[in-house]
Amino acid sequence: MIGVGLSLQPESAFLDLLDEVCRTKVDYFEVSPETLWWEDASGLLIENGFHQRLQRLVKQTCKPVVGHGVGLSLSGVDRRDAARRRRWLSRLAEDQKRLQFAWYTDHLGVSAPVGQAAMLPLPVWQTPAAATLLLRRLRKLQQIVPQVGVENSVFYFALGSPLDEPAFLSRALRGAGLHLLLDLHNVFTMAQNFGFAPAEYLRRLDLTKVIEIHISGGTHSDASWLPSGRSLRLDSHDGAVPEPVWQLLDEVLPRCPQLRGLTLERMEGTVGPAEVPLLSAELTRARQALIRHRLHS
Ligand SMILES: [Fe+2]
Repeated sequence: MIGVGLSLQPESAFLDLLDEVCRTKVDYFEVSPETLWWEDASGLLIENGFHQRLQRLVKQTCKPVVGHGVGLSLSGVDRRDAARRRRWLSRLAEDQKRLQFAWYTDHLGVSAPVGQAAMLPLPVWQTPAAATLLLRRLRKLQQIVPQVGVENSVFYFALGSPLDEPAFLSRALRGAGLHLLLDLHNVFTMAQNFGFAPAEYLRRLDLTKVIEIHISGGTHSDASWLPSGRSLRLDSHDGAVPEPVWQLLDEVLPRCPQLRGLTLERMEGTVGPAEVPLLSAELTRARQALIRHRLHS
């Protein structure tokens, strides 16, 4: 068990404000390597200048790093995305040499339809063929980082029942070194928007595959965005972890025997001086949850 982690963002203000927290409150860092690159017109992935700063922090603190992304488009099927995926994997291999990710995860879904990066992953038809493709993509990723996984995403429309997703994930995650990243705020958000009980989703999920848990907060959409006036829960990572997510954490922790990390996620641009005490308290509360369930000393 590694313990409690924080997702790092390539933003000077974020890293400055949370420097002390990073050094004293967390056991590992989560880094999205793709946030350290930008893509030029020819598709080349170029560093944005944050590698050195993150490597310095890692070296000074001697804390491990786990990798996490959204851009691999694990379930994309469009041929126009093949070249982009090859460039993406070869750039990831460079970062693996420098940051030595203990494991690497990406989101369930299609995040680069027709080869163009989308802001959020799009849902997948949960067919046996799609499960086989996901497994194949994860095997490819394992050639770079041996321990890999997939995160349950938030979708704002569904292809099939969201409650069938646990079975789909189980079909894909067959074999050694393949893990699940369980994002509890994603489960909470999907449950609110689609009208199911989070406990039912978690009951169907193979929790023995969970290597990492994400917790975060979010907000609600402006009701004027939809003609119906309906407001949706947003997985925006910009606020406090809600109490129901803390309750879900307490419920699942004893059921995740392979858990190695509990990560607090927070979006760049949402942390000012006033937020630092909250994030610090949330990291302490996360650690207390691990200790309460004898997963951390
Ligand atoms: Fe997450």
